[in-house]
Amino acid sequence: MDYKKTGITAQSQIFYGADYNPDQWQHSHEVLERDIELMKEAGVTSASVGIFAWTALEPEEGKYEFEWLDRVMDRFAEAGMYIFLATPSGSKPMWLSEQYPEVRRVGLDGQRESSGWRHNHCLSSSVYRQKTRAINEQLAQRYRDHPALALWHVGNEFSGECHCELCRSAFQEWLKERYKTLEALNAAWWTSFWNHTFTDWSQIPTHDPSIDGLQLDWRRFVNDQHLSFILNEMAPLREITPAVPCTTNFMGTHETTNYWQWAEHLDVIANDLYPLPDDREDTWRNAIRADFIHSMMRGMSGGKPWMLLECAPSSVNWGKINKLKRPNVHRQEVLQAVANGASTVHYFQWRKSRGGFEKYHGAVVDHEGSNRSRVFQDCAAIGAELKTFQPLVAGDCPMAEVALLYDWESRWALNLSCGPKKIKGQGPFPTDLYTETSFDHYEALTAAGLAVDILSTKSDFSAYKILILPALYLVTDALAQRIRDFVQAGGHVVGTYLSAYVDASNRCHLRGFPGAGLREVFGVWNEELDNLHDETRVLVEGSINGQARDIVERIHLEGAESHAQAGTEFYVGQSLITEHTFGNGSTAYLATRLELPALKAFYQRIIQRYDLRRSLELDLPEGVVFRKRETANGTLGFLFNYGRNTKIIDFRNQNFKKFGDAQTVLSGKFELAAYASLILWL
Ligand code: GLA
Ligand code: GLA
Repeated sequence: MDYKKTGITAQSQIFYGADYNPDQWQHSHEVLERDIELMKEAGVTSASVGIFAWTALEPEEGKYEFEWLDRVMDRFAEAGMYIFLATPSGSKPMWLSEQYPEVRRVGLDGQRESSGWRHNHCLSSSVYRQKTRAINEQLAQRYRDHPALALWHVGNEFSGECHCELCRSAFQEWLKERYKTLEALNAAWWTSFWNHTFTDWSQIPTHDPSIDGLQLDWRRFVNDQHLSFILNEMAPLREITPAVPCTTNFMGTHETTNYWQWAEHLDVIANDLYPLPDDREDTWRNAIRADFIHSMMRGMSGGKPWMLLECAPSSVNWGKINKLKRPNVHRQEVLQAVANGASTVHYFQWRKSRGGFEKYHGAVVDHEGSNRSRVFQDCAAIGAELKTFQPLVAGDCPMAEVALLYDWESRWALNLSCGPKKIKGQGPFPTDLYTETSFDHYEALTAAGLAVDILSTKSDFSAYKILILPALYLVTDALAQRIRDFVQAGGHVVGTYLSAYVDASNRCHLRGFPGAGLREVFGVWNEELDNLHDETRVLVEGSINGQARDIVERIHLEGAESHAQAGTEFYVGQSLITEHTFGNGSTAYLATRLELPALKAFYQRIIQRYDLRRSLELDLPEGVVFRKRETANGTLGFLFNYGRNTKIIDFRNQNFKKFGDAQTVLSGKFELAAYASLILWL
């Protein structure tokens, strides 16, 4: 049972559980006892504890109280369950933030925030860094040998920024480190524009939207400050409990956090995801977006199992309309994460709080408190099902033939550049044109039956057949060279509108877009960018037909061939989709945002042309997705109907045994109910 002795990790066993807040019920011992019983009944293995419990642990500065947590840790160990012990930095104690105002963030308006809310501490405050380290040391010393301690859950959903004087001078120091001289900084930021030349480091503000280079560096700085804050928290944990892995929970495609960079410093990747599927006609598209985020987590953990550290067992309380999950949806979401490489499924939350902001947020245990609720029964069934995967999780997910780069630097630079159309994406994940473009391509590839790995610009993509660069707006010379080498060596690259406009400082590349030498690789020159109103569609005609929206670039062929042209607008007849042979490989350029059917048709051509293998050699109906996961005992196939209508599947003469029920063999035609999930041995 001793985690540290058995070497159990999230990469070798399934964890199932939830965020648990026994600190809210310290004075009702019967609640803890009841929770342990209910957890066993639900198949729970683990719980994240203490995320917002700082005052319960340190009610006055330097005065610690651990008895309640001792009891929780002991009872968990006796029950054979594990604790993911949180460091409580996500919410500041009142005594601390009143006594040391510097720990409270300052907004853009120069006002210091009041003590309340959460996730709002200053990242530069040395007081806050010292205090978090002190409480972390206490926790690590006290529980270093405790058999229930399985993982450190550092802070919670780090995000946001602070504009206080401490942050401003830390930013100035960070800039000195990056640029060394003011001349270099002024050149990088092109500050002669509007007379913004800095003549002393102390003049540099934290915010000026008219200096887009500054804004981009501020993004990087804030991201680095988060990371250094996390590393400061982890230092005593790693020293005192070297065998206990450390993680912090990500938020998928959250805009201001470059998780690729953080991932390198964590022992295991953990993510929180709230897909909020509803039962609207196109709800299946949201499910594919959740797959994108899961795939990215798999990419961040290098194909190794990762942890879904929060999701909702039913409704959330913070949406505009908080719908209950329809039957089968909850199970499907859990299996979706598993199919994409998750080995841990934890909910927010185990038990509903009696009061406070989240008292109506879905939980395994309702205010009513028994095992009789629909959600509890649902969770218990999933707990039992996940146990059947237990011996299987060691395997990595198979590597795909197609890689897609998702790059926060490009996203930031594009969003901070004034001119190209800004859009707000649909669906539960707040997005922008950059992320929507990535989702479009992932969705079209998924619909075409292909598996896709999501990589960063630093990943090694040399082993892939196809490399997709959705709106790769910021391209350095070094990245351009790697892309060029990949194509030269026989790789195939798909580029899109908004490719290679700027360098690392958000300055435009000279000598034509796509810049940094990629003009030659794509064989096109992108002369102009047309931004369209939301309701406008441009016809696409050629070997691919359909419609496009939002962005059209007027490109010239410089060696590339045209596969489709504009059928409307003043640029009628001009190329929108090209292909170009370069070295031993080839490139395609999409000069506009194709609607999904046209993009899917584009990828169907790519499948044929490059002889790509689909995950399952069958045409599946819209909204039905098939994924593979390797296990220690063979390959599992997950067949999901993400839609709200029953779909007919035709396996023809292929036969598959049902996982967990070897008697049932599926072949020929059968019905897949709304939101149903089938698991098969391949
Ligand atoms: C986030 C937080 C949790 C909780 C949930 C509610 O994921 O980390 O503390 O607030 O949202 O959905
Ligand atoms: C105004 C200003 C110019 C420039 C243009 C841009 O006219 O005087 O400096 O900013 O707007 O449209």
